Amino acid sequence: MNKLKRLWKDRGNQYQYAKWLMRYAKPYAGKISLMMCFNLLSTVVSLVMVTLSKRIIDSATAGNSFFILVGGYLALVVGLEVVSVISTLMNAMLTERFSFGIRKQIYEKIICSHWMDVKRYHTGDLMTRLTSDAGNIADGIIGTIPNIIQLFIELLLVFFTLFSYSPILAVFALMIAPVAALSSLWLGRKLKKLQVKVQESEAAYRSFLQESLANLLIVKSFANEEYSTNRLVQLREERFHWVYKRTKMGVVSSTVMSMAFQTGYIAAFTYGALQISRKVITYGTMTVFLTLVNRVQAPVMSLAQQIPRVVSILASAGRVMELQDIPLEEKLDEQITAERIGIEVNQLTFGYTDETVLEDVSLRIQPGEFVAIIGASGIGKTTLIRIIMSFMSKIEGSVTFFNEKGEKEKANAATRNFISYVPQGNTLFSGTVRENIRMGNLNATEEEMWEALKMAAGDEFVRGLPKGLDTVIGERGHGLSEGQAQRIAIARAFVRKAPFLILDEATSALDEATEQGVIKGLQQLSPRPTCLIITHRKSILEYCDREITIENKKTIEE
Ligand SMILES: Nc1ncnc2c1ncn2[C@@H]1O[C@H](COP(=O)(O)OP(=O)(O)OP(=O)(O)O)[C@@H](O)[C@H]1O
Ligand SMILES: [Mg+2]
Repeated sequence: MNKLKRLWKDRGNQYQYAKWLMRYAKPYAGKISLMMCFNLLSTVVSLVMVTLSKRIIDSATAGNSFFILVGGYLALVVGLEVVSVISTLMNAMLTERFSFGIRKQIYEKIICSHWMDVKRYHTGDLMTRLTSDAGNIADGIIGTIPNIIQLFIELLLVFFTLFSYSPILAVFALMIAPVAALSSLWLGRKLKKLQVKVQESEAAYRSFLQESLANLLIVKSFANEEYSTNRLVQLREERFHWVYKRTKMGVVSSTVMSMAFQTGYIAAFTYGALQISRKVITYGTMTVFLTLVNRVQAPVMSLAQQIPRVVSILASAGRVMELQDIPLEEKLDEQITAERIGIEVNQLTFGYTDETVLEDVSLRIQPGEFVAIIGASGIGKTTLIRIIMSFMSKIEGSVTFFNEKGEKEKANAATRNFISYVPQGNTLFSGTVRENIRMGNLNATEEEMWEALKMAAGDEFVRGLPKGLDTVIGERGHGLSEGQAQRIAIARAFVRKAPFLILDEATSALDEATEQGVIKGLQQLSPRPTCLIITHRKSILEYCDREITIENKKTIEE
């Protein structure tokens, strides 16, 4: 009973997936139809060719001239080739376009949703959904589904052509249909589960690859080379296991169908031979019979072979749809204007899981204030910042920005415009120093970049780099020292010139003198930005107006 219920529920899902796919395919409907028309045209032409070949053979056996007919046959062959070239090209271009379209949508979805909801997925898993699953969907919409429709039409056309010659043979040829239908139904259900397993094992494999390559230094430091290779082999074996199971199932079903196919063909052949021996039909008609029997069975076989593909499309659509279901973050259009900005946190409670990290926290920071946030490691400092940055989807309580006129705006994706943020850890991109700094403000001039670098105490070392601002740095700032990377990250935030600055242990890798220089420089700015500084260093505290300590899930003011 339960199993039945689950099946019924799953049916609803399949319908949702299919509906979702159709919505995606809509803009491409015209081009896909055109491609199908081309393919249908080749079906019709090849049917004409079958009839023509009968006439050639019959003319030849009757001793008549048949060269004109052969000429016509040749012309049709050439025509078919041309159509096939056009439709192959169209198919390739459409698949490219469509798969990119779908990838772009998923990518936009990922970067416009709440950070916390997306971060639940491993980057490798997201990559699998973005590439392999999106590719599967594209192949399906451009290849498999039009193919299925075409095969149906082809089947009907050929069946009726054959039927007009010999109803008995037409039925013989279709003997394969019930076998195909039953085996595909049985297969489809099993395959869906296997396909999800295949994609999951692919995601695990990619996640491991990506992570171990990104942390190569750790692999080597702890002499984990052999362990890592073994782990890779193990993950690959897992994928292999599921792929093997899936393939095995496909092979079994196609063997069953091939047997049915052969039986149908032999039956038609015997029937035809009998008819010839009784002189009821000509050799030409016999050729038509055999060709058409073959051609009724081929689409039925192909249709059955499409089942695994359809299953794989639906499985991928399910995985992509899961991402689509993540709610987009709120971005308010109306924005308060702000030269100087403050923030009010009211009765904030938050936890990543059921266990809360912050409970009933309230605080108010005035425009232009320098506030230090301190507390033990793992206490919730970065978490508080992430909430202020609106990275989290579910919080209790409120976070509000206000300006000097007393206007207020609830924290949302758009209030990040007020903030320059230097996150904890190394957050540089590969590319030039210039590209990295420009991320803070895409309109920044050369002069503004140097100004920001100077304030971040980074101008001197960047000037000393071989190509200055155009020096290329590697992934996560590879090629720079930790402190140098940190200063570029600070410059990236400074160049934004936002009224609210958040430094999350942003100067931890700098020596004390440099660190103090940076903070002092900030204080001399006019108008003075509001500053939230998370630090474990006592020396910075003397430059701050206030200290807020996080302890036992609460904030304590000093
Ligand atoms: N993405 C996450 N999912 C679940 N729990 C998390 C997540 N990020 C942090 N936590 C937990 O939340 C708590 C607070 O973490 P947070 O990063 O805010 O600490 P922190 O005060 O910034 O520490 P540190 O000084 O070490 O940077 C920790 O117990 C941590 O385990
Ligand atoms: Mg932290």
